[in-house]
Amino acid sequence: MRMYDLIEKKKLGQELSTEEIYHIIDGYTKGEIPDYQISALLMAIYFKGMNVRERYDLTMAMRDSGDILDLSSIDGVKIDKHSTGGVGDKVTLVLGPIIASIGVPVAKMSGRGLGHTGGTIDKLEAFPGFNASLSEEDFINQVNSIKIAVTGQSKNLAPADKKLYALRDVTATVDEISLITSSVMSKKLAAGTDAIVLDVTVGDGAFMKNKESALELARSMVDIGKKADKKIAAFLTNMDEPLGFAVGNDLEVIEAINALKGQGPSDLMEVVYALGSQMIVFSGIEPDKAKARKLMEQAVADGSAYNKFIEFIKTQGGDDSFAKDTGKFVPAKHIIPVEAVQSGYIHGLKAEAIGLASMYLGGGRETFEDVIDMSVGVVLNKKVGDQINAGEPICFIHANDLDKAKHAEEMIRKATTISSEKCDHMKLIIDIVE
Ligand code: URA
Repeated sequence: MRMYDLIEKKKLGQELSTEEIYHIIDGYTKGEIPDYQISALLMAIYFKGMNVRERYDLTMAMRDSGDILDLSSIDGVKIDKHSTGGVGDKVTLVLGPIIASIGVPVAKMSGRGLGHTGGTIDKLEAFPGFNASLSEEDFINQVNSIKIAVTGQSKNLAPADKKLYALRDVTATVDEISLITSSVMSKKLAAGTDAIVLDVTVGDGAFMKNKESALELARSMVDIGKKADKKIAAFLTNMDEPLGFAVGNDLEVIEAINALKGQGPSDLMEVVYALGSQMIVFSGIEPDKAKARKLMEQAVADGSAYNKFIEFIKTQGGDDSFAKDTGKFVPAKHIIPVEAVQSGYIHGLKAEAIGLASMYLGGGRETFEDVIDMSVGVVLNKKVGDQINAGEPICFIHANDLDKAKHAEEMIRKATTISSEKCDHMKLIIDIVE
């Protein structure tokens, strides 16, 4: 099989066979096919796409490029949750302990933040001592004993995706449905759970900028999950403005802890309850979604979700005193309000720019080697649809460097739209693909 012929075939819009797809992924993972030929193939896929069968084969070939976790020794239906990325997205930190406290086993592999989006593992490392690299055995034992473990992605999970993703990143081929589908689903299938709930973010701060493309991606991932015999559902959620009020690592952790104590922002809780009730339905613990939501609300109200969070942090080596007293997190040196220059209603708080402002302050990475400043970020004071008076803060910048804070302020001002016309709050759950 010549790589040249396979590139030519896809360039002409023809279908690649299962054998050909496995040959490509296997050869590339082993370093036998050079980056320049894969780059050309990726661009051909970008323009010609792949049908469902090809996407399935590509996903499976990528899944099979490394380890596949065997979670069969965990009791019950194991469920994973995955977000395609957002700003202020602390859903896993809130959702995981709530459903674990109800008895749903949460065996979750999470990632680190890159670019304007954050990552759950970075946030969990806000707790000194937290171990984000559990061995497979410890991971499984922990889920069996306390129902929840969250660990970083093991090095050998879908290694083909790691190489391909890095190449897509520099060849302008990230935003293609077949490639995103196979990238996300290969990792989800290798992670070995029985059911998957996907949070497909839509809007300014998301990969998918409009509902149509997000729906196409959601359907594509659900198709592949079903073909692989998984229970799967995808929720389209709004990412035009940040989720909740806090953006930045420690700041988001504090917001998540408050949410577990019953003081969560309504938009964050809407997403948590929507995804969580689907996960409970998949688990078989409660077949009715509305009743599943009630169970979650109850777990927050009676403190069992918060207690589960404390137990989870402690079991995984983290200093739980920070969860019990969030005043222990060392704040940034400067907390600077960004005041509105006119009165009116907030029409826009562009998520991507606010995520980038937080990253610029030191709260995110441009490359995986960058070190994060955990204390910095942005805390919104208003959300889209809120009324604001001139001089009132739109948000507060948490910074350790005043020059950076100045630049972040400019970024946030450009990201904010205020108008005299009334405006609705944003609808969080845009669509569901089951
Ligand atoms: N997230 C992934 O893991 N892969 C993509 O291709 C896009 C988002």
